[in-house]
Amino acid sequence: NKCWVVIPAAGVGARMQADRPKQYLPLVGKTVIEHTLACFLEHPAVVGIVVAISEGDPYWAELTATTLSEWENVYTAPGGRERADSVLNALDYLANTLQVNADTSVLVHDAARPCLSRPDVDKLLAEGMEETAGAILAVPVRDTMKRAQLDTQRIAHTEERNGLWHALTPQMARLGVLQDALTHALQMGLSVTDEASALEQFGLHPILVEGDARNIKITRPADLALATFFLMEAAN
Ligand code: CTP
Ligand code: MG
Repeated sequence: NKCWVVIPAAGVGARMQADRPKQYLPLVGKTVIEHTLACFLEHPAVVGIVVAISEGDPYWAELTATTLSEWENVYTAPGGRERADSVLNALDYLANTLQVNADTSVLVHDAARPCLSRPDVDKLLAEGMEETAGAILAVPVRDTMKRAQLDTQRIAHTEERNGLWHALTPQMARLGVLQDALTHALQMGLSVTDEASALEQFGLHPILVEGDARNIKITRPADLALATFFLMEAAN
């Protein structure tokens, strides 16, 4: 049971306010994206990886010229305006350029999530491989969740927390279905912040696979310190 991996890595990292996109910031001995890729490069189920990269990205070029030069089966596709555009470009590259079959399972994982653990990848693959509707890593919400009144920013009501989950990545689906769902969602101008939301709008109901809450997305400066801690902890 094999799969392909798509890594959207074409964001600018505006909220990180660093001198370069966050996926290229140093983190425990290498760059963020090298940690992210490592989890898949070593995985026996992974046939190959397509990374969506901004046009003329000098940092990716530097990595491929140096540390990544010996990696086989790592391809690049052009990044797009939004994350979903980048993912769709990579999926199209898989289908059209690499001629990967539409029934093949694809895992989409943010470049900015370097703390993904091998056990979580294995769990997602085990539970998701036979799921035609898809599967995603997620964690149950722990805080009390408030719904705000739209204009006043006062509490309208408290959401029922039971049954609420944080969506993480990787998110897994069949190549052809995910292409169709993302294409449809983008054409309709729907908000697609993850793959599952496109699948949902297509009438599919991916399964939630409980993952490790340490699989954080590096978004703001403080997240780097947290990721450093988690990676050091994992190395010991
Ligand atoms: N991403 C992408 N193409 C885009 C936008 C985002 O491939 N047009 C990628 C990012 O590189 C990141 C992942 O999608 O790995 C998650 O997006 P996010 O955390 O929002 O990253 P950025 O868009 O880079 O950050 P910001 O929103 O703060 O600018
Ligand atoms: Mg963004």
